[in-house]
Amino acid sequence: MAEPFLVVENLTKTFGGLHALSDISFEIKRDEMVGLIGPNGAGKTTTIRMITSILKPTSGQVSFKGEIITGLPTAEIINKGIAATSQIVKPFRHLPVISNVMVSCLCPRAKRKGEWVKTVELRAKDALEFCGIGDLALEPASVLSHGDLKRLELARAIATEPELLFLDEPFGGLSPAETTLIAKSLKRLHKGGRFGRLHSEGPAMLIVEHKLSELMKIVDRVIVINFGEILAVGTPDEIISNKEVIEAYIGKEV
Ligand SMILES: Nc1ncnc2c1ncn2[C@@H]1O[C@H](COP(=O)(O)OP(=O)(O)OP(=O)(O)O)[C@@H](O)[C@H]1O
Ligand SMILES: [Mg+2]
Repeated sequence: MAEPFLVVENLTKTFGGLHALSDISFEIKRDEMVGLIGPNGAGKTTTIRMITSILKPTSGQVSFKGEIITGLPTAEIINKGIAATSQIVKPFRHLPVISNVMVSCLCPRAKRKGEWVKTVELRAKDALEFCGIGDLALEPASVLSHGDLKRLELARAIATEPELLFLDEPFGGLSPAETTLIAKSLKRLHKGGRFGRLHSEGPAMLIVEHKLSELMKIVDRVIVINFGEILAVGTPDEIISNKEVIEAYIGKEV
């Protein structure tokens, strides 16, 4: 049997009297691309923030490749091979685009791997080119459009060469054409993981999205949460025809 990859057990988060998440348990396999969906306020971002230790769980446990990682500092979690993009993108606006990515490349994980990577700058350029914004490398981040900022956010995450990548609304605010581009890049990254001189197995992914029709095209499995609890888990086809999920969330969207 394959070694467990990400295992989330009984994760719970309360904010004062608010139960944001109650006893969430799920697993992600090494080769999976999983969607995490649910209505606004269901607890999706909170789930990612707890796994990456930006928020401390009220209770519950997270393990990665057999090791308990609950409560480790976020920098250590990144170094173990987990990266995440934020729902709200906050680059260093006054710095050039490439410098924003180079900051990620400086994490020990990225530095340690691959003697063939001559410089951090080359690595950052590879990540930018993979995301389709190589030509903007020297521009200050402040001039980027919303769509390009989303791509920069992805470049920063993949520059750490994660084995597991969390994406919080990667299509948020993008046009249909931009959404399709990013969706294709994510699938390509997952399958081949090759960009520039870098190539790896391709990360497992957990993607939070409200744009369901695009999401359902690229994920293998979907987890639905509602009011901080898991409502359903299944293949995209199972989820879009699940009566409870339709009532709670999907409505006529898909
Ligand atoms: N830092 C916080 N302090 C207090 N309440 C919070 C905090 N972060 C989140 N919440 C609350 O926890 C619940 C879950 O929020 P979360 O951001 O995880 O939802 P979400 O599923 O990501 O929603 P959306 O689709 O709108 O991004 C919400 O009721 C939210 O208001
Ligand atoms: Mg959210």
